[in-house]
Amino acid sequence: MKKVIKYILNFLGFKITRIQKTEHDEGFYSELNKLNIVDIEKLTYFNSFINGMISDYQAKIIFVLCYFQTIKGDVLEIGSFKGKSTSYIFRAVKETKNGSLYVIDNFKGISGKEYLYGDFINEFLQNMKKIGNNKEINILNGDSKKMLKKIKNDSLRFIYIDGDHSYEGIKKDLYGCLPKLKNGGIIVLDDYFDGFPDLVKSVNEIIGELKNFSYLTFAHNLVIIKNIHNT
Ligand SMILES: C[S@@+](CC[C@H](N)C(=O)[O-])C[C@H]1O[C@@H](n2cnc3c(N)ncnc32)[C@H](O)[C@@H]1O
Repeated sequence: MKKVIKYILNFLGFKITRIQKTEHDEGFYSELNKLNIVDIEKLTYFNSFINGMISDYQAKIIFVLCYFQTIKGDVLEIGSFKGKSTSYIFRAVKETKNGSLYVIDNFKGISGKEYLYGDFINEFLQNMKKIGNNKEINILNGDSKKMLKKIKNDSLRFIYIDGDHSYEGIKKDLYGCLPKLKNGGIIVLDDYFDGFPDLVKSVNEIIGELKNFSYLTFAHNLVIIKNIHNT
């Protein structure tokens, strides 16, 4: 039977090639676990099956910041899309066993604006299943303003914001997040570059108003802000 199929495919101009098994298999994470190390390059390679809106450079910076943070607390992501950034943050939280991961997204894009991507919650859930266990992620499905109310004040050590990029959206998310952040905690905000002038304007205004926060640095369009209250 195989020979007949091969013959027909050959006749039609197709060639059958065996695809080599790659490192994208189920055992990959358990191999890393056995070694008890995280190879960021391999992590990037493994997570590359997820269709995302952040670059590998950004994802690696986010991973490192979250992974090497020493204060205890939970971690929040606003804006997961299909889970690329989530996959790095999830790994950092899991490895360090430092807190729980919360993600907020409406899984629809920005309603009424140009970025309406359709419903992608199922794709997000499937991707999270592939990288571990989506039951370990606290998914807050809905608008960030409403969902942020479910997070306790002074409970988060790390916040990554990549949600609504509008002027008002950034103000709403950043000001909504500030009371949630622990002393010594870090906020990483994405897409600070010419492509999003409203976002840049909004961030500049907020940074100008912040007290007890040190605005640390820019790296690959990321703004990194640390809470230095009482330090
Ligand atoms: C730029 S994408 C996030 C990309 C993602 N970090 C990645 O790694 O690919 C922005 C996400 O924010 C979500 N979003 C936008 N506005 C929102 C809002 N007001 N509340 C909740 N989610 C929102 C969108 O649904 C979208 O998934």
